[in-house]
Amino acid sequence: MPRSDDTDATTGLPTLPLHRLGFDSPGPPRQVDLPDGTRAWLVSRYEDVRKVLTDTRFGRAGLHTPDAPPLTADAGLVGSLDLMFNQDGEDHLRLRRSLRRAFTPRAVARWRPWIAAIVEQRLDELAAGSPPVDLVAAFTLPLPVEVISRLMGLDTPARQRLRHWTQYAFSDGSHPEEEMESALAEFAAFGAALLAERRNAPGDDLTSVLVRAADEEGGILEGQLIDLVCGLVVGGHDSTMTMLGNALLYLLGERPESWARLGEDERAAEAVAERLLHLVPLGDDRGTARHAAADTEVGGVTIPAGSVVLADCGMANRDPDVFPPRPFDDLFAPLAAPTLSFGAGPHYCLGAWLARLELQLSLHRLAARFPGLRLARPADEIEWRRGTTSRSPQRITVTW
Ligand code: HEM
Repeated sequence: MPRSDDTDATTGLPTLPLHRLGFDSPGPPRQVDLPDGTRAWLVSRYEDVRKVLTDTRFGRAGLHTPDAPPLTADAGLVGSLDLMFNQDGEDHLRLRRSLRRAFTPRAVARWRPWIAAIVEQRLDELAAGSPPVDLVAAFTLPLPVEVISRLMGLDTPARQRLRHWTQYAFSDGSHPEEEMESALAEFAAFGAALLAERRNAPGDDLTSVLVRAADEEGGILEGQLIDLVCGLVVGGHDSTMTMLGNALLYLLGERPESWARLGEDERAAEAVAERLLHLVPLGDDRGTARHAAADTEVGGVTIPAGSVVLADCGMANRDPDVFPPRPFDDLFAPLAAPTLSFGAGPHYCLGAWLARLELQLSLHRLAARFPGLRLARPADEIEWRRGTTSRSPQRITVTW
């Protein structure tokens, strides 16, 4: 949860750019109340968060048992039990195995040439326009949509429908129920049709890889496969779009002096991308939930069996015992320890290397091609696009 001084007094909605959000200092595990009234243990120190995310006594499936606390979907904590993210142990591995080879750092590095070509094509179009231009419409949204569409093998009508489905899949709760149901049913039907198509005529896309691996593995329900495909399609572009928008807002708004070096030095752009991934959260939600299957000691405190545990990666990424204080100061310095922004343990983000690559290439090439790029409207006037767990600028008006 954001601190109260980060929110609008009337609406209660967060207003600050994400890089300016305040974080309390990490400390020993303590009990907190979630928005739906559930008592949970908040874990916030780097080592404690790593422990919760990697120790198999803390799982996701337990959050769905009949005697588990009724965590509401509004809290952004749960989602359908069928999701890979909500499975543990062998059930989780069976699903994850069908994809993980496609997303290793080495496999993702092989995608670099065509992703770089898409970046360049976007920049050509940007250069052909006349400023001021909205960087979200021209770059941060279409780039990840094109990348995930190419990866998953989506045709043009599906690409055009992608944002529509995403708005419902990550709804902030403001959509009428009937509209939600119909949009999500249409999205699931699209997922089912895509899987059937690739089963009949496999291609070199990830959907085909997934279908083949799942059929070989066996025991994976068709509904789970549909959820997986749909989850990759929306999650795979929305998160990267969010990250790109928030990172560019920070760089252009508050660190314009870093822009020249970003354009000159590709290695430096890699370090900056990692630091921004580390420090700029995707949204205002501060913790990923787990369920304790047994009494377990974390950071000197025993968390009782049956507890809901919130692992706060944002606070842990600012733990002064691991990361020296004032971490934004030197954007180009490597991190002192692996970031927790992609989680850790069995649910470590499958798309981490893809997201990194898109961010690195984007920052480096944007700065190289547009050395004079700057905000045309102040960051304080930003309107926010809000999803269940993410927030990013609706528009970033720039000139050069
Ligand atoms: C900046 C971009 C991204 C960030 C910060 C991010 C962050 C995360 C985090 C923190 C988790 C673990 C959550 C937990 O353990 O509670 C996760 C899981 C996941 N992410 Fe990402 N993600 C990003 C981009 C992507 C992309 C591009 C894809 C796909 C192409 C993706 C696919 C997944 C999947 C499938 C999982 C679930 C893995 C599992 O349950 O085994 N993510 N992500």
